[in-house]
Amino acid sequence: MITINENYLKLQDSYLFSTIAKKVEEFTKNNPDKKVIKLGIGDVTMPIAPAVIEAIHKAADEMMKKETFRGYGPEQGYDFLREKIVEHDYKKRGIQIEKDEIFVSDGAKCDTGNIGEIFGKDNKVAITDPVYPVYLDTNVMAGRTGEYDEKTDTYDGVIYMPATAQNNFVPELPNTKVDMIYLCLPNNPTGTVLTKQELTKWVKYAKENKAIILFDSAYEAFIQEDNVPHSIYEIEGAKEVAIEFRSFSKTAGFTGVRCAYTVVPKELRGYTKNGEEVSLNKLWNRRQCTKFNGVPYITQRAAEAVYSEEGQKQIKENINYYMENARIILEGLKEAGYEVFGGKNAPYIWLKVPNGYTSWGFFDYLLEKANVVGTPGVGFGPSGEGYFRLTAFGSRENTKEAIKRIKEI
Ligand code: MLT
Repeated sequence: MITINENYLKLQDSYLFSTIAKKVEEFTKNNPDKKVIKLGIGDVTMPIAPAVIEAIHKAADEMMKKETFRGYGPEQGYDFLREKIVEHDYKKRGIQIEKDEIFVSDGAKCDTGNIGEIFGKDNKVAITDPVYPVYLDTNVMAGRTGEYDEKTDTYDGVIYMPATAQNNFVPELPNTKVDMIYLCLPNNPTGTVLTKQELTKWVKYAKENKAIILFDSAYEAFIQEDNVPHSIYEIEGAKEVAIEFRSFSKTAGFTGVRCAYTVVPKELRGYTKNGEEVSLNKLWNRRQCTKFNGVPYITQRAAEAVYSEEGQKQIKENINYYMENARIILEGLKEAGYEVFGGKNAPYIWLKVPNGYTSWGFFDYLLEKANVVGTPGVGFGPSGEGYFRLTAFGSRENTKEAIKRIKEI
């Protein structure tokens, strides 16, 4: 008899964005005449930069010729891309990262989900609340949590660190000892950030507790203000305690192309039950070599082109476009009387739902009355209840129209 991984039975019915998609599909079926504007899932709408497309064509042509054809590539990514990453994303910021600390992959969602494989099942997990659902769900799957408690909307054994308007979206350090800490900055879903000083406290905590910080900086390219770290390695000592996840998805419109990378510094150590030190870089390398055959050559050439002069210019134009959308949403909602957060260093706007509504209640109301789709805050965790997320990744036209409709209801 084949048995199953029963941890999966602890998961909630469906993944947040699938639930939303289903609801929207039903609404559209019942209201075929309504033009629904989707500002729910953070998916980009601007086409890929011309410099990147050019590189894709060139790489595709190479695949056509015997002399330049490529089969399996290195599981960790091609040197041409890893070198660009080291140079542009780290060296330019004064951070020393080596090529073999970079692991190119097909997405930060996979990496943040898969990374748990190299850690023991008994580790105590801490997540900020609200949080990108992948961190929690993958730990549930791995058996690192207890059962789900419907009353509190929490899993047993997980440390939830609220980040709400009350604490200005600065979560407090856990008051117990934890081992795996997930931080996402700029934050998805709240769109808020931490300063260098604030992030320094987390690095210190991780050092003192021999914990690891799993730092998702998929949205770093949207940072506009100084004193907001783009990388956790800007903090002294972070290379001893943090793994960093980066993605080309939002930075360069790769949500459909698929390319990301993870930095696992060689200084990083995990421990056996007997207290022996083990290199996490070695473990992750072993995992990738066994389970992953690398990102397609064509895709890596596309990612490389993001770092060219033209590529940089073109992706910045797109980022500015989205950040102008964010400004339009922020200002528009403020004028409409909403309390709003985020949106200054991130493409997400986090708003307080009007009194008397739950997050899902407001989702239904907005869909029904304004035909606008957002994401209910509670879908990201219990502290997200009473909040709602809108993304700035829509087209300008749709963004303006959505705000106009929200103002009118
Ligand atoms: C989101 O909407 O939170 C993101 O698009 C989801 C993702 O990046 O997987």
